[in-house]
Amino acid sequence: MAEIGRRFVPRPTTDVHIVTYPKAGTSWIQEVAWLVNHDADIATSNDVPSSQRTVYIELRTTDNDKLSQLENVPIESPRHIKWHHSSDLLPEQIVSDSKSKIIYLLRNPKDTVVSWYHFQKKIALYGFTGDFDAFFELFLQGNVAYGCYMHNVRSWWKLRHRPNVLILTYEDMHADLSTVVQKVATFLGKDIMPQQVAAIVEHCQFQQMKDNPMTSNMRKGQVGDWRNCLSEDQSRRMDIWVDEHEQQDVGSDERLPLIYE
Ligand code: A3P
Repeated sequence: MAEIGRRFVPRPTTDVHIVTYPKAGTSWIQEVAWLVNHDADIATSNDVPSSQRTVYIELRTTDNDKLSQLENVPIESPRHIKWHHSSDLLPEQIVSDSKSKIIYLLRNPKDTVVSWYHFQKKIALYGFTGDFDAFFELFLQGNVAYGCYMHNVRSWWKLRHRPNVLILTYEDMHADLSTVVQKVATFLGKDIMPQQVAAIVEHCQFQQMKDNPMTSNMRKGQVGDWRNCLSEDQSRRMDIWVDEHEQQDVGSDERLPLIYE
């Protein structure tokens, strides 16, 4: 992040930042946002991997310098950039600049912890070999990659009144994707026709994305799957944990929009 802070040169009027805590549905919202900003260009999205169209800037790999890749994007093309960190860790010029467009997607912590546990087991990079109960404890402690869920989510939620920040929820995407597509279009200042909205909604259905090699990396894609995984005690402890964090500095009328089913 320090290197990104030093080297990243924002293009405030055209950059689109997609920010989430891991497993909030990043691939879903990044596909929606990219399509909205590219006039529902389904053909390109079926041809070019989503990870090339939206650059995961924080993922450092030996063979690919993401910062150079982003610098080489032609000036007239909007850059879509994915982040997972809390707002205090992103380069200051992005967060404070009122022109940099930031879309933050929030997912309830119970489904997030379940989704992330399965991902950790699948991806060797994390080296996690424990069971769900062990992962649950690490998650509550904030002792996982990208740190504490509550810190991350609240750091962005506090910025929700800024005109350059749009906060959406995974659960709202589930309930009514068309409305979310329209919200993203309004936020990005794009005129969008009803048939384009319909095409994006169709393209971004769970099964479509799962079957599409350009976007596939889906598991169950449900709201409420946590009920199959968390014990009653874990669910209750997580409610208390959320309350405790919320009471720290967010007023009672400003609670996070956490939807569990
Ligand atoms: P599950 O593990 O609960 O299935 P991320 O992209 O941030 O890694 O988030 C991954 C989660 O988003 C996974 O949740 C995945 O199935 C879900 N997801 C991705 N695309 C989706 C879609 N089109 N519809 C519903 N859920 C989707």
